[in-house]
Amino acid sequence: MVVLLATSHTDEVELWRRLLEKRLPGVELRIYPAIGEPSDIEVALAWKAPHGLLATLPQLRMVCSLGMGVDHLLDDPTLPSGVVIARLVDSNMVEQMSEYALYGVLHFHRRFDVYERFQSEHRWQELPLPHTAARRVGVMGLGEIGADCARKIRSLGFPVSGWSRTPKSLPGIQCHTGKEGLNAFLADVEILLLLLPLTERTAGIIDARALGRMPHGSYLVNLARGGLVVESALLDALERDHLAGALLDVTAVEPLPPDHPLWTHPRVKITPHIAGLTNPLTAIEPIARNIERLMAKQPVTHAVDRERGY
Ligand SMILES: NC(=O)c1ccc[n+]([C@@H]2O[C@H](COP(=O)([O-])OP(=O)(O)OC[C@H]3O[C@@H](n4cnc5c(N)ncnc54)[C@H](OP(=O)(O)O)[C@@H]3O)[C@@H](O)[C@H]2O)c1
Repeated sequence: MVVLLATSHTDEVELWRRLLEKRLPGVELRIYPAIGEPSDIEVALAWKAPHGLLATLPQLRMVCSLGMGVDHLLDDPTLPSGVVIARLVDSNMVEQMSEYALYGVLHFHRRFDVYERFQSEHRWQELPLPHTAARRVGVMGLGEIGADCARKIRSLGFPVSGWSRTPKSLPGIQCHTGKEGLNAFLADVEILLLLLPLTERTAGIIDARALGRMPHGSYLVNLARGGLVVESALLDALERDHLAGALLDVTAVEPLPPDHPLWTHPRVKITPHIAGLTNPLTAIEPIARNIERLMAKQPVTHAVDRERGY
């Protein structure tokens, strides 16, 4: 079996080689752009591989995403149709994402956004502290990451609502579903966490209407994909003080262009897409297991439904 590694994180390729050769002896790893004979390659491990590359591999059977989102693969118009796409589900990454989500909730709930401003003004001033049990947190997307975040935030005492495509039943979480449930979900969410995949149906879902449904003075934390949010509508909601603040790990264009107004908005906090970082030391195991399943002609786990888009 020959496996191709094509990743924009070029500093990690030798680590991937060591890990793969140790975990799957006999499997040969080639590293893009040193592909060799394209028809040798049956599996590709990809993160932001150049569009068109996968279409040049005639014997390709499976693409393993090196990140939990697969929009970087599905937006390649030349992606071969018969190839299985497996997304990465790594519990280490889920933990990292939940840590970021918890940070975001506590940052706004405990008003560190305002205290940061006070410090810059050398201002010693106490603010009233909202009651945890009265501040509803909303989690959009209740998949591997969203469900973990919802559970952990609930365990701190916040009331939590969730929203997903199909109905869910999660202990202690008020679950809403589909388009019909979206308005009711947004209506009482004071801190909104985005954990949806970027698909045709979710692109731009946080637009002026959705933001308008959220209560006055609420907050947005986007740690999923920038394309979920209409950034002009977000800036407008902040300008009008409808939204009190936003923490963004992802933006529509990455890296965020230096002159983008989000960089300097006083109530926006930006991180450079670091909420969850793939760690080859933990990600190797689910990937190796899927390669073994493919070799044993068993169904791979976490296969992407292309129609659904995630
Ligand atoms: N910033 C970072 O560093 C970072 C790191 C890792 C992941 N991410 C992002 O996080 C996203 C979520 O990851 P995950 O592993 O939790 O995904 P997942 O397990 O596939 O879960 C996706 C969730 O979104 C829901 N959903 C999808 N389309 C929907 C729609 N049209 N309407 C309503 N709900 C919809 C799904 O509903 P059902 O449950 O009904 O299917 C599911 O609950 C990834 O796609 C990726 O973009 C970001």
